[in-house]
Amino acid sequence: MTPTGTGTAPHSLSFDFRSVQQTDGATLWRLVKAIGTLELNSAYLYLLMAADFGETCLLALHNGRPAGLVIGYRPPREPEAAFVWQVGVLPEYRGQGLGLRMLSAWRQLPANRNARWITATVDEVNQSSRALFGALAKQLNVPLAVQPHFTPEQFPVDHPAEPLLRIGPMP
Ligand SMILES: CC(C)(COP(=O)(O)OP(=O)(O)OC[C@H]1O[C@@H](n2cnc3c(N)ncnc32)[C@H](O)[C@@H]1OP(=O)(O)O)[C@@H](O)C(=O)NCCC(=O)NCCS
Repeated sequence: MTPTGTGTAPHSLSFDFRSVQQTDGATLWRLVKAIGTLELNSAYLYLLMAADFGETCLLALHNGRPAGLVIGYRPPREPEAAFVWQVGVLPEYRGQGLGLRMLSAWRQLPANRNARWITATVDEVNQSSRALFGALAKQLNVPLAVQPHFTPEQFPVDHPAEPLLRIGPMP
């Protein structure tokens, strides 16, 4: 376990942040399910993320219970980037700055700290996620660019486009 910080939200709730351990796969899956609006992938994929990419994933805990997560990795084809695959906060903790604080803590994890870019794909209708990454770029005082990435035709099932957000370069 790598504790990465603790702090108090504007609404005075206290959260602890830590990177993900090998045994956290089921916790990630359950949390994504409880968050509700995130696409729930196979349990096996979350076990893989925890086992192989835990250093670039983050859990937020309130009173020791999971409240939010960031699942990410360093893309092998773009090693200067840290990619956010899924970010979510349980409904009861939203709108209190937790999402932004999680991304800040996630960016400062030892395995992400040297990234010059933060990338993520976000579909066009996901206003809360767009706002979250916009707020992160503003906080870091770096540009946010949007470029085409996964198109609906690339998906084997009905799925909206997932353009790539690029935040950076970090100074
Ligand atoms: C996206 C999500 C993680 C944001 O978490 P949060 O803790 O509510 O976000 P914060 O309180 O830190 O807000 C960060 C910024 O986003 C804005 N924001 C958050 N939710 C918003 C919404 N629904 N509509 C508009 N803006 C929103 C906030 O105003 C804030 O901007 P500001 O700093 O300029 O005021 C959360 O809404 C969530 O879990 N959604 C469901 C999962 C999801 O869609 N994840 C993203 C796809 S991978």
